[in-house]
Amino acid sequence: MPDPAIDPLRAAATVLDEPAAAAVAALVPHSRATLATVLTHASVRRFEAAPLPDDAITALQAALVRGPTSSALHSYTHVLVRDTERKRAIAHLAGDQPWIDQAPLLIVGCADLRRAREVTHAQGYRYHAHDLRMLISATADLTVGLQNASLVAQSLGFGTVLLGGVLDGSLEIAELLELPQRVVPLVGLSVGRPLGDRLPAPRPRLPLRLLVQHERWSLDETSERDLLAAADADTRARGDFEGRRIPWAAMGLGGDDPVAHGDYGWLEHTARKQGRATWLPQGAKVDVDLPAQGLRVSSTGGADEAVG
Ligand SMILES: Cc1cc2nc3c(=O)[nH]c(=O)nc-3n(C[C@H](O)[C@H](O)[C@H](O)COP(=O)(O)O)c2cc1C
Repeated sequence: MPDPAIDPLRAAATVLDEPAAAAVAALVPHSRATLATVLTHASVRRFEAAPLPDDAITALQAALVRGPTSSALHSYTHVLVRDTERKRAIAHLAGDQPWIDQAPLLIVGCADLRRAREVTHAQGYRYHAHDLRMLISATADLTVGLQNASLVAQSLGFGTVLLGGVLDGSLEIAELLELPQRVVPLVGLSVGRPLGDRLPAPRPRLPLRLLVQHERWSLDETSERDLLAAADADTRARGDFEGRRIPWAAMGLGGDDPVAHGDYGWLEHTARKQGRATWLPQGAKVDVDLPAQGLRVSSTGGADEAVG
């Protein structure tokens, strides 16, 4: 008798009906191990058009919901989009990202701050939780689900790319998906078979010393600067960012681009991303779009006027 705590079939049956759980459990021996899947991650942006098999889509749905959820609130709803026209429209709204259009499956991860409020009202209470913490925990919830789905997809040989660009078109995407108020698209995930079945090689990261510390902050400014400079030199030597230059015109500083070919690495790219003059409208869009979707995002919180 398998231990129910570690038996994938029984675990899958907590979120799927019996035949679906059996189909997903049958995939387990054909999936790559977790550590190998994590280590070989690389975002895929060129996909075959062929649809995903049904059992893979079922496995992704299980992955979207089997992860942890803050306070057991389940403050997310994921929308699976396979329709070609709908995907194309979202690809445009999410910043004209052609891979969203190409990949056979798009998962739109939405913060769902509606369900718990409806329940609070239905139970006869006033909703007091209009605060930023709810949005942060909903974002963590939906990201946990998307990342689990991404790992499952990759373990089964598919490719994925996370899509923060969904936030840029959040309001319009919500309308397109006919979402109710307070269900807000924040992050997406495209899934499909990588073009030619070829996964990109894992892309470099900043040095571990910069990204992970032990027990306490132990990085002095000189070490940080030196480590960043060395990492930047590597990206320049490889030309990692040359093809992805943020045009000088976006900086709004006039004149010609002062950075010569070969000198554009992680440091310049990162600085241009945050420093470009075109950054502000994106922030304003969040300020305007989230309230338009019914979210009262305030760090000091707030309550509904009355029940109902
Ligand atoms: C929160 C988040 C949002 C992202 N949004 C996008 C996006 O909108 N479009 C895209 O092509 N890649 C997106 N990415 C993927 C990153 O660009 C990618 O992870 C990064 O360049 C490192 O490459 P790698 O994943 O291949 O290692 C996103 C990643 C994260 C974590």
